[in-house]
Amino acid sequence: MITSKQELQELAQIKKAQNDSNPKEKTLDTSSAFYAKQKRIVLENEGIIDPEDIEDYIAHGGYISLFKALDEMSSKDVIEEIKISGLRGRGGGGYPTGLKWESVSKVKSWQKYIICNGDEGDPGAFMDRAVMESDPHRVLEGMAIAGYACGADKGYIYVRAEYPIAVDRLTKAIKQATKLGILGENVAQSGFSFSIEIRLGAGAFVCGEGTALIASIEGGRGHPRQKPPHLSDNGLWGRPTVLNNVETLANIAPIIKNGGEWFRNIGTEKSSGTKVFALTGRIKNTGLVEVPMGTTLRELVYDIGGGVEDDKKFKAIQSGGPSGGCIPEHLLDLKVDYESLKEVGSIMGSGGLIVMDDSSNMVEIARYFMDFCASESCGKCTPCRVGTTQLTQLLDKFIAKKATKEDFTLLKEMCEVVKSTSLCGLGQTAPNPVLSTIKYFEDEYLAGVCND
Ligand SMILES: Cc1cc2nc3c(=O)[nH]c(=O)nc-3n(C[C@H](O)[C@H](O)[C@H](O)COP(=O)(O)O)c2cc1C
Repeated sequence: MITSKQELQELAQIKKAQNDSNPKEKTLDTSSAFYAKQKRIVLENEGIIDPEDIEDYIAHGGYISLFKALDEMSSKDVIEEIKISGLRGRGGGGYPTGLKWESVSKVKSWQKYIICNGDEGDPGAFMDRAVMESDPHRVLEGMAIAGYACGADKGYIYVRAEYPIAVDRLTKAIKQATKLGILGENVAQSGFSFSIEIRLGAGAFVCGEGTALIASIEGGRGHPRQKPPHLSDNGLWGRPTVLNNVETLANIAPIIKNGGEWFRNIGTEKSSGTKVFALTGRIKNTGLVEVPMGTTLRELVYDIGGGVEDDKKFKAIQSGGPSGGCIPEHLLDLKVDYESLKEVGSIMGSGGLIVMDDSSNMVEIARYFMDFCASESCGKCTPCRVGTTQLTQLLDKFIAKKATKEDFTLLKEMCEVVKSTSLCGLGQTAPNPVLSTIKYFEDEYLAGVCND
């Protein structure tokens, strides 16, 4: 049992000495082009620590932020620090984390919850999976700090069952932290108690949406509901709830350790810190990359990604998964942050980045994402259930070169209707890949219009 910060530091020293005498400590070769432009905060322990050994996490500075918060900071101080950091939710929406925590902290209730969203349903995305698998204690520490800040004593991690390694490591991490008294009753004799349980999702994309996720944890169908009421007032079991993404929570411990100002000085004015991207598609170096916000798409594609595979011509980069858009070559110098991506018709999303070369047909790309949304639509609201299917069928006509001019008008109109009338974010953003490809690659749609 660890009952004080001092004991935690002593354990860290002992384990560090053990690690030093046993030279299997791993480091990254940061001289390679792939790492040179990266800045690793969320992924700093990835591949370095043993994710199944809490002592290794502690030896690398783990849980010191939780103990610092409990020892030296009031819950208001913690929230203030997160507000200063400018941290915004990494799950897609970019909502300021400090403000979210503050609203829950202000609500009076005998029971509040912290939920970690590890659903990660975007095709091609594996950022959260990597964090949960490589550094599970970092997620637990972020949740416990959130619990302390908001007055919650219970946390849930909602993770898809298709991530068995993540589930296994999180389960082990919870057991280890509970055994050491870092989770559970009266943590380090501070009066603060916090326990965490895991809930498995069955792999429905819509269950990443906050209200659907909560319905799923409660044992209901994973269907979204209208907001308000917001989760801060009426979340899990009707109680005030903070829902945060895995990567958001993985940023908490470093912020508390180094201070909000430190974090704010990384990235851009409105989007501080770093972002983890899953760089995939027709690119030489694929994989997880973490870069300061404000890094350009060109740096991501050419300096880190090594350029397009087989030295083919770059055509577009898709960001934000099924809710995002395709960005063409002339915008490659765009500095990536929440606002800039929105301005060009895409979104940050959770961090999927798919590179396409000139062999890609943009109508087919749009159709792929629309078909994904159609099959993942929960069916609760008509515009999404019917609209995404109708849009997929319309796109098929363009691909078969059997569309009419009227179909093109209808396609654009239907996109607007589905966007503005769907119940939740799934339908509201499903037309984005179509709209952004129409914006930048209209000729490819017109090539699908037959003249007879
Ligand atoms: C269809 C849909 C799927 C979503 N999937 C995820 C997901 O897998 N992970 C996630 O963190 N957020 C997801 N979100 C966003 C969440 O609703 C929520 O905004 C987020 O978890 C809040 O955490 P943050 O503030 O830390 O970003 C999804 C939203 C929608 C509409």
